[in-house]
Amino acid sequence: MQRTDRDGLSVHIREAKSEDLPTIMHINRVSLPENYSYSFFHNIYETFPNAFLVAEVDSMVVGYIMCRVERIFSKIERFRYRRAGHVISIAVLPEYRGRGVGRRLMEVALSVLKDRYKCDEVFLEVRVSNWQAIRLYENLGFVVSEVLKHYYLDGENAYVMARSL
Ligand SMILES: CC(C)(COP(=O)(O)OP(=O)(O)OC[C@H]1O[C@@H](n2cnc3c(N)ncnc32)[C@H](O)[C@@H]1OP(=O)(O)O)[C@@H](O)C(=O)NCCC(=O)NCCS
Repeated sequence: MQRTDRDGLSVHIREAKSEDLPTIMHINRVSLPENYSYSFFHNIYETFPNAFLVAEVDSMVVGYIMCRVERIFSKIERFRYRRAGHVISIAVLPEYRGRGVGRRLMEVALSVLKDRYKCDEVFLEVRVSNWQAIRLYENLGFVVSEVLKHYYLDGENAYVMARSL
């Protein structure tokens, strides 16, 4: 779908296939405490296939992003009902981080949510301590719209971050 080069890294972003799901689950497990069942991943994959993307380097899947489309009260404009993309999970294998892979996954997902799924805005939850991810989202124009107290199982708070599309 897209290619970019940074630090000599050639990244190919494409839609996930069902055979990628075990690799995606592995990347999720080594990257985040929030893990999900195979059926959860598979359900998102079947329902919103165009916004479930993987990043390949040398034909190896090194990252993924999965999103859902929801009807919500806007996270940005009060009292507006919006069609929103919800970034459920994004992760890149540790050895490939900081090289532009996550940014490319986000950029392609945002354009799919806008053009294919006709979303007006996009939002996500992020741990308040996850400064790398927060910086990535801020660089892409997201702002904090809400704090969710004790959102995570270990009691940590989440920022809801959102932007218009
Ligand atoms: C968050 C994550 C997906 C970012 O992916 P990545 O490939 O490392 O991100 P990129 O290399 O594209 O970096 C994009 C931006 O994020 C910020 N960033 C990411 N990693 C950073 C680091 N180690 N140090 C400083 N800034 C960093 C930078 O602002 C960077 O901007 P730049 O392009 O101007 O340098 C990745 O760190 C990851 O998998 N983390 C574990 C899982 C996770 O936390 N997911 C998010 C849950 S909400």
